[in-house]
Amino acid sequence: MMGKIVWVLLVVLLLVQAVLATDGVSVDRLNIWPMPHSVSHGQESLFLSKDFELNTEGTRYNDGSGVLKDGFSRLLDMVLVAHVVDGNFSKIDTSLLLQGLHVVVLSADDQLQYGIDESYKLSVPASGKPGYAYLEAHTVYGALHGFQTFSQLCLFNFTTRVIEIPMVPWTVIDQPRFSFRGLLIDTSRHYLPLPVIKNVIDSMAYAKLNVLHWHIVDTQSFPLEIPSYPKLWDGAYSVSERYTFADAAEIVSYAQRRGINVLGEIDVPGHARSWGIGYSSLWPSKDCPEPLDVSNKFTFKVIDGILSDFSKIFKFKFVHLGGDEVNTSCWTLTPHVKKWLTKHHMNESQAYQYFVLRAQNIALSHGYEIVNWEETFNNFGNKLSRKTVVHNWVLCGPLVIRFLVGSFLA
Ligand SMILES: *[C@@H]1O[C@H](CO)[C@@H](O)[C@H](O)[C@H]1NC(C)=O
Ligand SMILES: *[C@@H]1O[C@H](CO)[C@@H](O)[C@H](O)[C@H]1NC(C)=O
Ligand SMILES: *[C@@H]1O[C@H](CO)[C@@H](O)[C@H](O)[C@H]1NC(C)=O
Ligand SMILES: *[C@@H]1O[C@H](CO)[C@@H](O)[C@H](O)[C@H]1NC(C)=O
Repeated sequence: MMGKIVWVLLVVLLLVQAVLATDGVSVDRLNIWPMPHSVSHGQESLFLSKDFELNTEGTRYNDGSGVLKDGFSRLLDMVLVAHVVDGNFSKIDTSLLLQGLHVVVLSADDQLQYGIDESYKLSVPASGKPGYAYLEAHTVYGALHGFQTFSQLCLFNFTTRVIEIPMVPWTVIDQPRFSFRGLLIDTSRHYLPLPVIKNVIDSMAYAKLNVLHWHIVDTQSFPLEIPSYPKLWDGAYSVSERYTFADAAEIVSYAQRRGINVLGEIDVPGHARSWGIGYSSLWPSKDCPEPLDVSNKFTFKVIDGILSDFSKIFKFKFVHLGGDEVNTSCWTLTPHVKKWLTKHHMNESQAYQYFVLRAQNIALSHGYEIVNWEETFNNFGNKLSRKTVVHNWVLCGPLVIRFLVGSFLA
């Protein structure tokens, strides 16, 4: 009863928030998304000149690796949406033509990391430089967000066949509300080819998300090459449904160039049956293969090898160690593991804690901070490393949906 009222209230609050959020800035055909921190606009129109250019005068960022230039060329692609601009420009008053976007990035540093400044300011046209739009950001990644917003102000006019920016002058002042805006992909249950992952990353960039949470391996398959333990990817669905180590590095670099960090995950000790295809001693036994064998030193050597390899390519400060849905029965059902538990005076739940904490220490030794799924916190929260972020899902997942559906149906 109480729960029901709470959920109905929550739904009402969410609806009210959604209405408030769009109020005032829901302009005719244009919707900037996600809604910027602040927006104002006028009623005039400007047009993109045929050779709309990037201008970086006065910027401190040298763009040696072309992150900004590539972002600008993607911006043009987005704005054109593959249309041919064949309008008659001599009909447009030249004072209404935008020659380019003047971008000033204040910081020379292009390190992408958790908590960097992603804010930007966009004016169309620039004040004091009417032939240009002006974008200012602290980091190049803030500037990339500004490109997304700029692209959403542009539309291809099918009558005039030129790119129009209606409702100028625009002033957008924006910064994310949340420093972690993630999307999870699971390449263990479903292998995703590299171009598909890249499409996902592109669409994340459109929505200004900044963390790709890559749940790489699970019970079903182990698709990633681990140089330290080259038989692990024997657990892939097939020889072609795999990622080389260089593929993973490519994903990280592709994402980084779009302002997106990659959070790699290995989920231990449950959700890991596929590990034992290549190294069967990681299983308690063939008939009772999960969770990973807590009694075997080799288990932790492999985790160390994986995280050591990870640290060469996954430069995000967090690594995800899973830790959810651990059914420890196989540990007491398997004689050699049970013997080990007895010898170390541990019951199953203590061994679960022991495993998670030992894996945490390995991650810390490779310079990572840790994300663990909620169950670890629910079972031994006060024992977790202080460098742990607890990833809530039990109460935000199926249960909430069930409650919400329940409150509508009741
Ligand atoms: C473009 O517009 C100008 C001015 O209206 C006109 O003189 C010219 O013929 C047009 N050009 C084309 C290719 O339609
Ligand atoms: C396209 O341009 C025409 C002519 O200037 C204008 O009347 C019309 O409103 C524009 N269409 C849109 C969708 O902005
Ligand atoms: C836990 O694992 C044991 C051994 O594999 C199995 O018999 C049991 O059904 C599992 N329990 C749950 C709740 O899944
Ligand atoms: C395991 O041992 C601890 C410490 O003695 C105890 O608090 C806990 O209830 C035990 N758990 C189980 C599942 O037996």
